[in-house]
Amino acid sequence: MKVIRKDEATAVSCVVNGERVSGSCEPRTLLTDFLRHEIGATGVHVGCEHGVCGACTILLNGRSVRACLTFAVQAQGADIETVEGLSLDGAALSDLQAAFRKRHALQCGFCTPGILISMTQLLTEEPMVTEDRVRDVLSGHLCRCTGYEGIVDAVLDVAAQRAHEESEPA
Ligand code: FES
Ligand code: FES
Repeated sequence: MKVIRKDEATAVSCVVNGERVSGSCEPRTLLTDFLRHEIGATGVHVGCEHGVCGACTILLNGRSVRACLTFAVQAQGADIETVEGLSLDGAALSDLQAAFRKRHALQCGFCTPGILISMTQLLTEEPMVTEDRVRDVLSGHLCRCTGYEGIVDAVLDVAAQRAHEESEPA
């Protein structure tokens, strides 16, 4: 059996928010730490670090995952989207981000990046999303600010707005 030294570095190359990046890490390094400390994607927040709170949620090859339950080496060759990718130029907010601001869904902001990522995926997969489904997916995020109502309102606003835009003649 090959013995892996604790300090042995492994190269990881992937695409983060449309940009090819690479770095090195120990085989045991979590994807949260790799993204935050190697890549600088500090929007990936770390709460519980054992897969419960949802603060670290990212999209990995289009699927939402807990980055704290993923080793960085598992992201080799992957396509990753973090909250930074929702507003790439740093100026224009995505429609979902704007709705969060309008509906006061940000709260203290700690959980917001993970929630935005989960809701972005939900709206992509279920454009006609219902309130029950929003609450169902939101249940994967434990937030000490609680509230949640503004978040539900914001997601439903975006679903309605997109449906309206779809129905408009081109
Ligand atoms: Fe990953 Fe809590 S930090 S789920
Ligand atoms: Fe404040 Fe979740 S947004 S703890």
